[in-house]
Amino acid sequence: SPSDPDLVERARAAKEKLGDKVFVLGHHYQRDEVIQFADVTGDSFKLARDAAARPDAEYIVFCGVHFMAESADILTTDDQKVVLPDLAAGCSMADMATAEQVAECWDVLTEAGIAEQVVPVSYMNSSADIKAFTGKHGGTICTSSNAKRALEWAFEQGEKILFLPDQHLGRNTAVRDMGLSLDDCVVYNPHKPNGGLTAEQLRDAKMILWRGHCSVHGRFSLESVEDVRARIPGVNVLVHPECKHEVVAAADYVGSTEHIIQTLEAAPAGSKWAIGTELNLVRRLANRFAAEDKEIVFLDKTVCFCSTMNRIDLPHLVWTLESLAEGKLVNQIEVDRETEQFAKLALERMLALP
Ligand code: 13P
Ligand code: SF4
Repeated sequence: SPSDPDLVERARAAKEKLGDKVFVLGHHYQRDEVIQFADVTGDSFKLARDAAARPDAEYIVFCGVHFMAESADILTTDDQKVVLPDLAAGCSMADMATAEQVAECWDVLTEAGIAEQVVPVSYMNSSADIKAFTGKHGGTICTSSNAKRALEWAFEQGEKILFLPDQHLGRNTAVRDMGLSLDDCVVYNPHKPNGGLTAEQLRDAKMILWRGHCSVHGRFSLESVEDVRARIPGVNVLVHPECKHEVVAAADYVGSTEHIIQTLEAAPAGSKWAIGTELNLVRRLANRFAAEDKEIVFLDKTVCFCSTMNRIDLPHLVWTLESLAEGKLVNQIEVDRETEQFAKLALERMLALP
């Protein structure tokens, strides 16, 4: 939907008044009305790097979700303030692993006698607490664009990986990219005693996958892939690795949001694509590439926005920018010092991956 011209003008004016003091980051899932004000757009990895590369900006306005703003706070200097335009912009996947649950899981692994062989690898989509746990136990963070390299690195450090919190990214990367079998993976359910696993299962597993998932990507099914192939002959199916294993296995291409965009940029005119990721991004790409005669459709028949990404809208962005322009700091995301120290260790290991 077109943006309210009055709000567009107010956002523009406030941003102009702030000048170099503010740097606006926009994740690819953000609404069009918000993305037009982003100084850079990117996937989770690119945005983490871009936030760290702007030490002169006093305010980093993060148009994305809470864990991304936390990561930006960890990677920026102490003087810089990271702001999330709506504090309710969380991530249901990140909420699926709490610090207590993960500490309990580590006790289970210790009890089974395997904790010393286990290296934690945590997806960027996790709270700062989980990142700190990861750093403390010698592990690394990964995003969907470097998960393979993170797993390779982790298997050089130890024999087993505890992958948090997205079971699908963990399984897809292990099986698709690392040549492991589905039998090498077990799922740890934090709601069951001992994760629902026996000590023997834990000892035999190479990948211990946390039972978390993304509810947006979880809606794509094998049936949606089969349907679109029947509907559009010659279609290329391109999906995000947060999709279920059977969807990823049936797709032609898999990658992060940035990778999806690059793949479509490189695609020949006349090609057809069905994309399995969040709808704001897919619609924007469909509009952008229509002029180049690339047909882009959404993989599923239903509508699939990420409701928390969508919480950041133009009214919230205007309020944020106008408040900052008046010298009023709002919605700051600040990670405490001790958590930050260990979480940073894990994030820096990711940034140093080859
Ligand atoms: P990427 O942008 O890193 O591919 O991640 C997608 C996502 O779900 C972010 O929440
Ligand atoms: Fe979280 Fe899924 Fe939304 Fe990404 S798309 S922010 S993983 S709920």
